[in-house]
Amino acid sequence: MKITHHIAATVFVASLAVAPIALAQDADTEKAIERYRQMLKEDPWSNPGLLDADRGEALWTTARGPKNVSLETCDLGKGPGKVDGAFAELPRYFADAKKVMDLETRILWCMEQLQGFNSADLVKRPHPGGGQPVKELGAIATYVASKSNGMKFSAKLDKPQEKEVVALGDALFHRRSGPFDFSCATCHAAEGLRIRLQGLPFLVNPEAAKKVVGEWPAYRVSTTHVMTMQHRLYDCYWQMRMPELQLGSDVSIALSAYLAKNAEGGDISAPALKR
Ligand code: HEC
Repeated sequence: MKITHHIAATVFVASLAVAPIALAQDADTEKAIERYRQMLKEDPWSNPGLLDADRGEALWTTARGPKNVSLETCDLGKGPGKVDGAFAELPRYFADAKKVMDLETRILWCMEQLQGFNSADLVKRPHPGGGQPVKELGAIATYVASKSNGMKFSAKLDKPQEKEVVALGDALFHRRSGPFDFSCATCHAAEGLRIRLQGLPFLVNPEAAKKVVGEWPAYRVSTTHVMTMQHRLYDCYWQMRMPELQLGSDVSIALSAYLAKNAEGGDISAPALKR
């Protein structure tokens, strides 16, 4: 099975005319990338993602939408208007929506229910193109996530509905599909994989998941904008040539819940800086 994985991966990468997946990290390259990451982190105030967190805060507190109200009564799980620490406990089951929701799906729900926005419009083109700033929903998500900075992922995910969603995420993560017959696991279930210079984190391993999942939303230097977790998942599905992953869809929530579960106890440092 492993061998077919690698053949599939090589065919995929060759079809994009980029360098093949390196199966072992080259020590020098890894050192150089680490140095680059350190340089980015040395001055945390140089992170442009913080501007989006500020923009998100302003959007949260401003009366907007057809109903002209702010999001200050939005309940992210810890009670209306409580933002501090809310992200650390998401995804969770919301009785009012009768649904397990991740951060972005819940904000979308509040924008629709409280402010009267049409969620169908908001999910039409929810993610920014290269060089464009993160959209309003993403900026609000960046603000909310930043208010759990320094905390640890502690979503309980123990209600039957939540367990079901995590199990679905686990199945989806490992399910091979699409024209390349890839699963998330093809790229993210082994130590030391990479495509070009991009390390492929071993997301099935809690130790590795804990290191990266809490960094999202993250400012991505290569595309010069904040990328949210929903956007990250959308892009990875695109890499698999799967149909577009819709923001707030059951599949997106399930994958995000599965990742949060694997990252339980991991540090939150959003928005982090990514290559
Ligand atoms: C073809 C290989 C490939 C597949 C399949 C793939 N990904 Fe990825 N994934 C990547 C690459 C490449 C990156 C890093 C991109 C970068 O560095 O900019 C990444 C990054 C990520 C990250 C962020 C990791 C970090 O460093 O913070 C997450 C989370 C993630 N993928 C989840 C998924 C999920 C869930 C799936 C299945 C829906 C999936 N990926 C499928 C290639 C893949």
